[in-house]
Amino acid sequence: MLLFKPRKRKKDYMKLLGAVQISGTGFFVYRKFDGSVLLKSGKEENIQRAVVQRMMKLNPMVYNILEHYKIKPYIDTGILKDLVIGHMNDTCRVAMGIYAALSASLKNGINEKIIQEASMLHDLGKILIPSKVLNKPAKLNNKEREIMNMHSTLGYELLKTQGISEETLDLVKYHHQNLKHSGYPALQNNDKISEISVQIISTADKYSALRESRVYRGRLSKIESLLILYKEVLEGKIHKDIYKALFEYASKYDKAA
Ligand SMILES: [Fe+2]
Ligand SMILES: [Fe+2]
Repeated sequence: MLLFKPRKRKKDYMKLLGAVQISGTGFFVYRKFDGSVLLKSGKEENIQRAVVQRMMKLNPMVYNILEHYKIKPYIDTGILKDLVIGHMNDTCRVAMGIYAALSASLKNGINEKIIQEASMLHDLGKILIPSKVLNKPAKLNNKEREIMNMHSTLGYELLKTQGISEETLDLVKYHHQNLKHSGYPALQNNDKISEISVQIISTADKYSALRESRVYRGRLSKIESLLILYKEVLEGKIHKDIYKALFEYASKYDKAA
């Protein structure tokens, strides 16, 4: 004889569909047992975690990559916060500065909005890279380097199901690709990327990274950063006109020491 009916736990009644942001406030979106939809406000990091979990569920490729590299599927929202406020925002500012300083002929066919979107999203995949690799205060070994280099592909796979344009997705995937294609991941024969767009994002990424401090080094000065990147122009990794635009931007607007 059943003396009492076990109470159904809340989660049995509601299924988490994802999360949205409305006027700056984050909400979880639930489907209730009767089919209606419920919005519940939540802590920012929990909302972000739910959004990324949903992205992961939508594309099994993300799990395949994590499994292949034996990476635990852990979403580090602290990393995301730092990236959004810091590095991705900095990269976006520099990328827009490079774009603005380009000649009209080089700007031709380059979509400013896509540059902005891709630079703001380019390192999203880092939220799945274990922090012991991401924040290692020493040189990465080969295995760790391999894991680290997956961040651009992971970002691409996370964003692939989010209705984002093909061009933005490709820029996220190839933001570590150089002019002579010596970067990663390797380009496939059928990949058609805009060389100048990739150069804008990758050069802005390199410059902003050099200007920020890392666990293994302090931030570099404007002159040191520009010199390092000039060497890359000589090595054929950076397009000379993109470097010229970066130089113009940095001379005018990068006032920090
Ligand atoms: Fe990156
Ligand atoms: Fe980056």
